[in-house]
Amino acid sequence: MLEERLKSVIRDIPDFPQPGIIFKDITPILKDQQLCSDIVDQLVAHLQGMEIDAIAGIESRGFLFGMLLANRLNIPFIPIRKQGKLPFKTISESYKLEYGQATIEVHEDAFAPGSKVLIHDDLLATGGTVVAASKLLEKLGADIVGYTFIISLDFLQSQGRLTRFTDRVISLVRFDA
Ligand code: PRP
Ligand code: MG
Repeated sequence: MLEERLKSVIRDIPDFPQPGIIFKDITPILKDQQLCSDIVDQLVAHLQGMEIDAIAGIESRGFLFGMLLANRLNIPFIPIRKQGKLPFKTISESYKLEYGQATIEVHEDAFAPGSKVLIHDDLLATGGTVVAASKLLEKLGADIVGYTFIISLDFLQSQGRLTRFTDRVISLVRFDA
């Protein structure tokens, strides 16, 4: 089962990037080409039948599978980046992270208003990042149709923060503690 295979390679790194945080390290996944390909297959299977115009991925870890997924679905990829990185005209949104504060941005012309956009990130923790990304995309007229994550930290119970945008939340690996 994919969830078990993923759990067996995802590493817990205690006290990174600061004391008290247990960091879920997905880099071992990236060394396994078959596993990466199976992740994309599984995401595509979950999204079957949905109408999606573009995948938005959140810098940086959301770029890894977000771009693979968009390419597999044959649809555009929208990079959501940290402040000051995108060269064209942008709009921004600030939010609180599990550790610290952050601002993300997207290009004003990243997609056409009314587009059905699915947001991808590697991890759902407090939900602050994807809520900010959702607000950002909505400002440009996106219709948020779903979320995909590799990992969700279910014990933080943040999935409810996403229901105001959509109920369609897909996670390949769930951690209950
Ligand atoms: C991590 C992770 C998610 C976000 C989840 O990214 O990749 O994007 O935090 O946390 P949240 O649900 O509490 O908002 P981070 O900001 O550490 O940056 P990175 O992806 O560039 O490593
Ligand atoms: Mg991230």
